[in-house]
Amino acid sequence: MSGRQIAGALDVAVASLDDAARTRYDAGVADAGDDLREAIALVYGDAAAPGVVDELLALAALTLAERKPALQAVDARRAGDPQWFQHTRMIGYVAYADRFAGDLNGVGRHIDYLAELGVSYLHLMPLLQPRDGENDGGYAVADYAAVDPRLGTMDDLASLADELRAKDISLCVDLVVNHTAREHGWAQKAMAGDEHYRRFYFTFPDHTGPAEYERTLREVFPEWAPGNFSWVPTMDAWVWTTFNTFQWDLDYSNPDVLVAMTSALLHLANQGVEIFRLDAVPFMWKELGTSCENLPQAHQLLRAMRAVARIAAPGVIFKAEAIVAPDDLVQYLGTGDPSRRECDIAYNNQLMVMLWSSIATRDARLMATSLARMTPKPDTTSWVTYVRCHDDIGWAVSDVDAAAVGWNGPAHRSFLSDFYSGAFAGSFGRGELFQVNPATNDSRISGSAASLIGIEAALDGDAADPVALARAIDRLVTAYAVAFSLGGIPLVYMGDEIGLRNDRAFADDLTHANDNRWLHRPAMDWVAAARRSDPGSLEGRLFGRFRSLAASRHRLAPLDDSTPTYVIDPEVVDPSGAVFCYRRGGSGFLALCNFAAEERVVDLRAVGERPFTLDEHTDGVTLDSGQVTLPPSAFAWLVD
Ligand code: GLC
Ligand code: GLC
Repeated sequence: MSGRQIAGALDVAVASLDDAARTRYDAGVADAGDDLREAIALVYGDAAAPGVVDELLALAALTLAERKPALQAVDARRAGDPQWFQHTRMIGYVAYADRFAGDLNGVGRHIDYLAELGVSYLHLMPLLQPRDGENDGGYAVADYAAVDPRLGTMDDLASLADELRAKDISLCVDLVVNHTAREHGWAQKAMAGDEHYRRFYFTFPDHTGPAEYERTLREVFPEWAPGNFSWVPTMDAWVWTTFNTFQWDLDYSNPDVLVAMTSALLHLANQGVEIFRLDAVPFMWKELGTSCENLPQAHQLLRAMRAVARIAAPGVIFKAEAIVAPDDLVQYLGTGDPSRRECDIAYNNQLMVMLWSSIATRDARLMATSLARMTPKPDTTSWVTYVRCHDDIGWAVSDVDAAAVGWNGPAHRSFLSDFYSGAFAGSFGRGELFQVNPATNDSRISGSAASLIGIEAALDGDAADPVALARAIDRLVTAYAVAFSLGGIPLVYMGDEIGLRNDRAFADDLTHANDNRWLHRPAMDWVAAARRSDPGSLEGRLFGRFRSLAASRHRLAPLDDSTPTYVIDPEVVDPSGAVFCYRRGGSGFLALCNFAAEERVVDLRAVGERPFTLDEHTDGVTLDSGQVTLPPSAFAWLVD
């Protein structure tokens, strides 16, 4: 059904609202209507805009009409506290429903585990109906209106959202906006010759068009999906496929695509999803002669979707998944103008990369330089801070930042791949290279945090080494201590809290065999997790410290993300440049993280006027006459 065919639908939808819903609708339109109109006009032009806006408003009205009272209550609560996601109680956990607990009902049976960790936000990895066989970990969706039957049903999802909400945990779910599976109904109809749906995708009769675009595009999966286009014999056409050949990019220059995807989003919002992880957003708009990433129209599309959600389901927030350069990334958080919102939160990929870089180099200068250079985010938005996720780590170290500390960008990036793949002599990294691209000399890394950070190496059979294990545990906790306090919502990637190592058997599942990101997507080991209360076990040593980080974070007001973060020049803190230091909320909170393999002593007079006391810290940290002694790989949180 296209927009043009349903003119008048807005009047019908609005007329169907009862008085209370009508009041909410009017308030939403007063809040976000202009924002929506402006964004749509910028993308589709003044002539087409009113029709598209009406269709989106009709969707919003229908969503409001069906929004259940419990979710209206969430909307009201969020309206009273719009910065709720910046509070110190926010701690996320990221898991595949099946790997964590079998299915959605299973997840419901493990809510206590999440509560024990202090979690208030649960991101369940893609859970909508994927294509059969290889599906890029669920990022190839065949039906946005159905849950993967192996995980449960849409009703199970709604019940799980209810259960989580009852424990004050917000559910985060992926919406794969950039592409559908080749098996999705839209693509199937396009293949069957339906012109309406053919216009949902980018098709080219021969390779001339693709070749022109390719000149300025990068390759996301050069090893197994070279190029960005795939020949589809049944359509006699090349189709745009940025990722795998079975993931077809959607053509948002067709407003029907925006309407259809927004409809999918609103449907999920009414099941109780509170946070949408919008996948691969930089790729949403293409323009010949550009990288086809981060284009202005992609931002306007997000702004339009955000405006519709503000009307239809005002309690929800958007999270951008944009693994791009820092200056491009911050744009997804919008301008800070509350009447023109875009995404509320976004992955701080730069921090994640810099943590791993500092761990390998035992040096905090590159991290401090690159983080201090990031364009500040708008105050009302937040980063999502993480150590590990389900994807590979790409070495997003700019040549300029590397040069600022006297390093060579390409050499440093290849060192990091060598270090974490274990090729570098003496390295504790036990990862694997991902997507080696001989043309650009680029390579990325797969592996779980525990395996990359030395826990696996320290436990290796004959070489088992308790001192190395203690160090590796400290490194992991210190990395998480940064994620828990630098600013933003910290995410715990499932298994890190108990030190789950690489899943070396990942290739036994043939649909995963050629994608070593499955190395770091192990099944939850509940037998190991049961040892979490044994303080002598690896699991107990880690879990106890994660809990302690969470408890301190909950308590420490300066960690609310309305307070700014100031990164301090490491050479001011310690001449070796190995101590990463930052303040939050004026000088009410100070963090010190020692990346060196030796002890470091920091004189607090160098970093702040106020007297500080030790709060959260690694065992062995001492504070004496204004001097903090940090053992190797230790961290300390100091408060007024
Ligand atoms: C995202 C996901 C990644 C996936 C890609 C394509 O960035 O995080 O796992 O391969 O998008 O959907
Ligand atoms: C690239 C893409 C990102 C994707 C990832 C998958 O970094 O920019 O969107 O998730 O590759 O490995």
